Amino acid sequence: MIVNLKAAGGREAKGKFPGRGGYACPVFKVDLGGSAELRPLEPWQAEEFLAHMERARATVDPWIPWASRSTDLESARKTLQRYADLQAGGEGRILGVWLEDVLVGGVMAFNLDPHSGVVEVGCWLEPAGTGRGLITRAAERLIDWLITERGVHRVEWHCRPDNVASSNVARRLGMTHEGTLRANFPWQGVRHDSEIWAVLAPEWSGRKDPDAAGEDPDAPAAAEPDASAADGLGARAAEDPV
Ligand SMILES: CC(C)(COP(=O)(O)OP(=O)(O)OC[C@H]1O[C@@H](n2cnc3c(N)ncnc32)[C@H](O)[C@@H]1OP(=O)(O)O)[C@@H](O)C(=O)NCCC(=O)NCCS
Repeated sequence: MIVNLKAAGGREAKGKFPGRGGYACPVFKVDLGGSAELRPLEPWQAEEFLAHMERARATVDPWIPWASRSTDLESARKTLQRYADLQAGGEGRILGVWLEDVLVGGVMAFNLDPHSGVVEVGCWLEPAGTGRGLITRAAERLIDWLITERGVHRVEWHCRPDNVASSNVARRLGMTHEGTLRANFPWQGVRHDSEIWAVLAPEWSGRKDPDAAGEDPDAPAAAEPDASAADGLGARAAEDPV
């Protein structure tokens, strides 16, 4: 369906569909407030993703291995394709955060195991996107979708103990620090510990209020992220994509 954003009171989108007399709507976006949007991030956006990675790599690389693996168009596309494959199998997904129409970061779900109802989520931002609450709001939407639409019972967040910005997000999301795995994350020749944070479905439904997270009440109704891959769940991903 083509939505005429202009007629609906939304801002003008970039693309036009000839003959429709209106504007093409970027499909499936969530308004995060503050001129930011959460949208699907797909392999065809590899060029934009690579340009963003160039801005993000220095700050993201110490914490997310695929930042250093997405260094040219082919490898950037491969990173996004890996998530597209996870989504096709119902095992994960990746969503980008656009701030004033510039890709500045995102959130992802992976290792979704439908049998145990466990999934892991992660996130990243380039410096221009930090300090605004974007990731907390984006992760809220992703977790909400995982729990309410996918029926996940337990959402995990893994981070290094020295990644305070990350554990602060987990805390803001209402997660509990359950423990620390010792030396389980080898990265660039050094073994690091991993803190395991998690929130359970009953805890989440007790706290969730995504509409209080800065959305514009006058904006057109925001669609949920694409749930097209919600069925046909596969086995736990063999390779950790993060
Ligand atoms: C982890 C990371 C995404 C966190 O970014 P962030 O900007 O701190 O997180 P948020 O988008 O949730 O924003 C929270 C910050 O915005 C501020 N903020 C402003 N408005 C806010 C709002 N409405 N709601 C919540 N926070 C808000 C908060 O006070 C906080 O700033 P502070 O930490 O200085 O107190 C970022 O540090 C990053 O990309 N790190 C590298 C990659 C990485 O480590 N990923 C995780 C791997 S485990």
